[in-house]
Amino acid sequence: MKHGLEHEKSEDVTEEDLPEGVLLRDHVVDGIQEYDQRLPMWWLIILFGVIFYSIIYWLVIDDRSYVGGVDQRLEEKLSAVATKRLASSIDVTNDALFFEMARNVDFISAGRVIYEANCAACHGNELQGGIGVSLVDGEWDHGSRPSEIYVSVAKGFPEKGMQPWETLLGQKRIAEVVAYVLSKNPGLQR
Ligand code: HEC
Repeated sequence: MKHGLEHEKSEDVTEEDLPEGVLLRDHVVDGIQEYDQRLPMWWLIILFGVIFYSIIYWLVIDDRSYVGGVDQRLEEKLSAVATKRLASSIDVTNDALFFEMARNVDFISAGRVIYEANCAACHGNELQGGIGVSLVDGEWDHGSRPSEIYVSVAKGFPEKGMQPWETLLGQKRIAEVVAYVLSKNPGLQR
């Protein structure tokens, strides 16, 4: 017996029986013949449209790394929340809080601006010292705990030429500059 694909064309249907422009395929399988028609345009548009949409969806919605990923935006939000919480709970006797500030990008960048405007002239752009002592040499004559560094900045050393900053900068900005100084002293952080 012949294999299905090699069956003779069914005798029931002939080309003349078909509608205008419709072709019959040559093969016959188990007595079944197929039309040979182009796929309708609307069907093709939907097919390729859905494929195209799935690629865009994958890039934009699913894998956000191409347009600022979900993770990144979530992280920015979390860090903004952390900054608010830190800013509203500044306790200059709490060393752990200072270390947390020293890991917070907003505090560090605010602190850097304050440092460059008020402290760099004496302590150097890289905190390496100059007129004032180095703030990165690991030596802390007046205490290395964040709360002690805070007091150094707030009270200053008027007899040595460093003014007290507490009235000029206020608590929050001193905390920020201390956070910046701490961020440059990774050895201090716990
Ligand atoms: C006019 C110069 C001058 C300016 C401006 C200045 N400092 Fe100082 N600072 C000094 C000097 C001098 C000392 C050393 C005092 C001592 O050892 O008795 C010092 C000491 C310190 C100490 C203590 C260091 C230690 O070893 O314990 C810290 C912290 C500090 N400064 C931070 C700052 C910060 C932050 C600012 C900016 C808000 C600032 N200073 C601005 C001159 C200055």
